[in-house]
Amino acid sequence: MREELLAFVSRHGTLLEPDAVEFLLAQHDPVGCVEALLETRPEAPFVLTLRDVQGAGEIGRQASTRLVVRPAAEPVSASPSLTASFARAGEEAADREPDVRILRDITGRSTCEGTLADFTRYFRHRFHVLRNMVRARRELGGAQDIAKARRSTREVGIIGMVADVRTTKNGHRVFEIEDDTDQIAVLLPADSALASEPVVMDEVVGVVGIVNDRGLLIAKSVVRPDIPTSRPFRGARDHVRAAFMSDIHVGSRTFLEDKWSKVSDWLGGNDEVARSVRYLIVIGDVVDGIGVYPRQDEELAIEDIYGQYEALARMIAALPDRLTVIMLPGNHDAVRPAEPQPAFPTSIQKLFDSNVIFAGNPSLVSLEGVRILAYHGRSMDDLVSAIPGMSYQRPLDVMKAMLRMRHLAPIYGGKTPIAPEAEDHLIIADVPDIFATGHVHAAGIDQYRGVVLVNASTWQAQTPYQKMRNIEPMPARLPIVDLATGQAVLRAF
Ligand SMILES: [Fe+2]
Ligand SMILES: [Fe+2]
Repeated sequence: MREELLAFVSRHGTLLEPDAVEFLLAQHDPVGCVEALLETRPEAPFVLTLRDVQGAGEIGRQASTRLVVRPAAEPVSASPSLTASFARAGEEAADREPDVRILRDITGRSTCEGTLADFTRYFRHRFHVLRNMVRARRELGGAQDIAKARRSTREVGIIGMVADVRTTKNGHRVFEIEDDTDQIAVLLPADSALASEPVVMDEVVGVVGIVNDRGLLIAKSVVRPDIPTSRPFRGARDHVRAAFMSDIHVGSRTFLEDKWSKVSDWLGGNDEVARSVRYLIVIGDVVDGIGVYPRQDEELAIEDIYGQYEALARMIAALPDRLTVIMLPGNHDAVRPAEPQPAFPTSIQKLFDSNVIFAGNPSLVSLEGVRILAYHGRSMDDLVSAIPGMSYQRPLDVMKAMLRMRHLAPIYGGKTPIAPEAEDHLIIADVPDIFATGHVHAAGIDQYRGVVLVNASTWQAQTPYQKMRNIEPMPARLPIVDLATGQAVLRAF
């Protein structure tokens, strides 16, 4: 979309400020917005500023019926409580046709064979896409190649991929970054606020600073691609709701059958909120799998992989008919472990009713025009151990870090296996309206710069492995998001 937008404005002989580009890309129809704006002007201006395009919504609404102006978001509870309820009554979900589109997903498009050439191409793609995002930030608009910057005596901006991170014995943090031309060591001085700035391997960052006489770049600031600031929630027209589940782990001895009965009864019952739930997004680890970790068979109630999916299919079939279910795999499921993971194979899909739509992990899914980025969340294992202060109990912090890095799984070579596809599908290319994960068996709702964040709990009790590692899960919570306002609530069962 970025290229389409830039091509459109250049055809009209005008330029867009980087901030204006970001603002437009966050809109429902970026090209339509600019077109509507230009129609109101006798002559195309030399540069369109952020202010110009922010005014375009109002002008465009009068000028063009193609512009969809969305209602502003009601605030998402900053400290969500388990008893939170919706501010507005919901629509009857049963009266509606589903509106689901899978916008991005690897399924059927995997091309990689894992050769060295594949990896080179994969990282090159990651670098180029994320570099363009960093370059769109005001501070790095004039970024130089590292080879050129290292000869400069003035303040410089560079953008590179992190190749090494370490702490010196004096407490300075040093990381190496590289681009197509060269590599340079960046120093975050121990006595500056930057010393605590988390930097992880293989992410793409911008750095502003001065190169000292030893060829070390002394950083003044570190700039991430991030997502645009103030951004209203682009809601659906009606107050239909989406519920989120993850990590059901059917087939495990610790699967919480009684809690499942409760949530299943509630969804099928007469509660006003339950009746407004139109969509159920299930974000991976839907069964426990087999051979996922050593001696797993001792913890299985169902030892046959198809038996596990059949049991799940019966559970899903017992949910009310009005629900459309979107199901992704996770690291316990029967698809390739390397991310991006494709949707379940036909042999598994055919066990389920036709109200279940299968998608890859990650996927960008549109529900009634609201874009949901769903990702199981395996990379949290790597990010929690790489970033000081992050924890399994606070997955929403990790999700915010992913949005700032615009990448779901930046660290290569950790616990998250990554397939070197021709394009990096783990880049957060489009800013979603809702970002949902699972995997860590925690639960929470929050928001970051207008994006609703959901971590979707689990339906499995504490496992012996979690007990050994002192991980307390938060099972049997159901996050529900109103697709009109973005308001999220968390229900305990
Ligand atoms: Fe899990
Ligand atoms: Fe998982």
